[in-house]
Amino acid sequence: MSAQTATAVTNQTSTQTFQKPTTTQNFADIYQSSIENKEQFWAEQAKRIYWHKEPEQILDDSNLPFAQWFVGGETNLCYNCVDRHLEERAEQDAFIWLSSEINQELIETYPAVIDAFKDLGNNVEFYTDYTKRRLTYNDLYKEVNYFADVLKRHGIEKGDRVIIYMPMILEAAYAMLACARIGAVHSVVFGGFAAHNLAIRMDDAEAKMVITVDAGLRGGKVINYKSLVNQGIEQAAVKPEHVLVVNRGILPFEVKELDVDYATERRISCEANVIVEPVWLESNTPSYLLYTSGTTGTPKGVQRDTGGHAVALTTSMDYIYDGKAGETFWAISDIGWAVGHSYTIYAPLLAGMTSIIYEGLPHQPNPGIWWRIVEANKVNILFTAPTGVRMLKKQDETWMTRYDVSSVKSFFLAGEPLDESTASWLTKHLGVPILDHYWQTESGWPILSNTPRFNDKPHKQGSPGYPMYGYDAQVINEETGEPCKAGEKGLLAIRAPLPPGCLTTVWRNDKRFIDSYFSLADSNQYSTSDYAVVDEDGYFHILGRTDDVINVAGHRLGTQEIEEAISRHAEVAECAVVGIQDELKGELPIAFCVLKDYELVATTENRFRLEQQVIGAVVKSLGGIARPAAIYFPQALPKTRSGKILRRAIRALAENKPTGDMSTLDNPTAIDAVKQSMKDY
Ligand code: PRX
Repeated sequence: MSAQTATAVTNQTSTQTFQKPTTTQNFADIYQSSIENKEQFWAEQAKRIYWHKEPEQILDDSNLPFAQWFVGGETNLCYNCVDRHLEERAEQDAFIWLSSEINQELIETYPAVIDAFKDLGNNVEFYTDYTKRRLTYNDLYKEVNYFADVLKRHGIEKGDRVIIYMPMILEAAYAMLACARIGAVHSVVFGGFAAHNLAIRMDDAEAKMVITVDAGLRGGKVINYKSLVNQGIEQAAVKPEHVLVVNRGILPFEVKELDVDYATERRISCEANVIVEPVWLESNTPSYLLYTSGTTGTPKGVQRDTGGHAVALTTSMDYIYDGKAGETFWAISDIGWAVGHSYTIYAPLLAGMTSIIYEGLPHQPNPGIWWRIVEANKVNILFTAPTGVRMLKKQDETWMTRYDVSSVKSFFLAGEPLDESTASWLTKHLGVPILDHYWQTESGWPILSNTPRFNDKPHKQGSPGYPMYGYDAQVINEETGEPCKAGEKGLLAIRAPLPPGCLTTVWRNDKRFIDSYFSLADSNQYSTSDYAVVDEDGYFHILGRTDDVINVAGHRLGTQEIEEAISRHAEVAECAVVGIQDELKGELPIAFCVLKDYELVATTENRFRLEQQVIGAVVKSLGGIARPAAIYFPQALPKTRSGKILRRAIRALAENKPTGDMSTLDNPTAIDAVKQSMKDY
């Protein structure tokens, strides 16, 4: 790839051997020991990773619900993901990058793309339907060192926050790992988000640097990342010192003001063959922030630690996914989401596997692209959200059957409910276990799962499984806190301490951590904000959120964030956004806007203009992912006497379901107003 010879660089600081626990192969025993002898259980798991300094204490639970794992231990995530494998697997692929967006046509339109690849280390193979770059562990080691050197030369040090706003390219992975190497705290922002979302995160994280690209591509459409970053910086109160730009040669890029050209800087580090020693971090040092939606308009900075995170992900790759070193794992997710963080980047590398990074849609250039990638790269384990599969299910079945997918041993799904017909369709065509599992950005790894690793708990179609080791999870009565009986709906709660790898707090806001997650009657119970029920066999079923968070194509959105974007429109007095069920995407947001002057929508033209403006305001502020599927203009919204908008009633009306008891309503006529607004549409 670079001009250097590809010699494996081994700078192992110790001859420590890594051990898998010699525990029995029975899940029930593992689970029991993880709950009853937590410290012993996790001390065993901790041996799976490299510790520069062994932990002094496995768990400090003296200040619950704040828990500290592996106290006093020193490690480094990047070292565990990369350096540690050099001795055994330097020439094994660490990442295989595939882009169905970079095709022949694109290269003809944007010839600079070819030169950009050369500047970034090349190693590109062009095929008719996708472009591929392979990167061995040794290549990755070098690239991460160059990237870390560039960060350091631009003032990034341990503890500094760095925003990564990038599409699915290898440099995004280098950026994350390079931050981890030097102890900087990354915060990846989903590429589908817009400038306002970036600005909120820049301010809250007080980011010192933003790393981005000239442009990204989605279904052939060019997305101007750099311009969105510029707009974000304009809106942010806290400005970064530098914007590091990986120029892909798609849009013209001129280095201006805060900009730094990555390829130029990389060359300097590469020519000097720079090695950046990993910074050893105490286990509880924050490794990254990932902002996620909640009930308020401001996203929460989920904070992850270092040691617990590394141990939890490595353990999950074995005990949950049954992934083995040398196998190929493909988590089809964006790096801007928790799945992309945990299972596209960190966990496969921690386990010495090969991970696929895919830039592209499930159905382009054709609906066979996933299976073609599986065949060509002998993918062993797949993981995605059901929406992607639902898209493919609608297409001609032969797109799937024409490829040899026999390398696949299991397919995991999470992020939203897995419907029966999607699961059956996959089972029919793949003939391997289709495993639903449930987790959250906050947990970082599965809370409930079906796992192929153990024989004593067969997987049950229609359920995301049972609590994973380390999670003392129960369905409880929301009011009393008492455990629910089998078949009784309640809140899914987890008793503190949360296991390693879960969020340790909300960034710089311990109070919000408690208020958001630990405000149940029993202050040591974490609320997942999901309703659930346990069946007679002890398998869990998720019944939807308890709050105003919706799930669009497996992407979590706060309705209040959308409402805030709409409320900025000068003609809107107030609004409510609710999620309605959608066959393909699970849920879609729809908005009910009360105008300052209702007469404004008396004409079709005006209504259309306002609709477009409201949709435009949401897309500009939050990105296309939050685009409302419909806008209605009722004369009023149903409210309680204390002025709270009854979103649940509105949702019921929108889905033509009973609204339940409306006796506490302050303005009963609003129900008819909402109904009427949908008829007017
Ligand atoms: O409501 C649950 C839903 O997705 C939420 C978490 O979303 P996010 O933070 O984006 O993390 C996704 C990580 C996979 C949950 O609170 N959810 C997640 N998995 C499932 C699910 N709903 C039903 N079934 C699932 N398997």
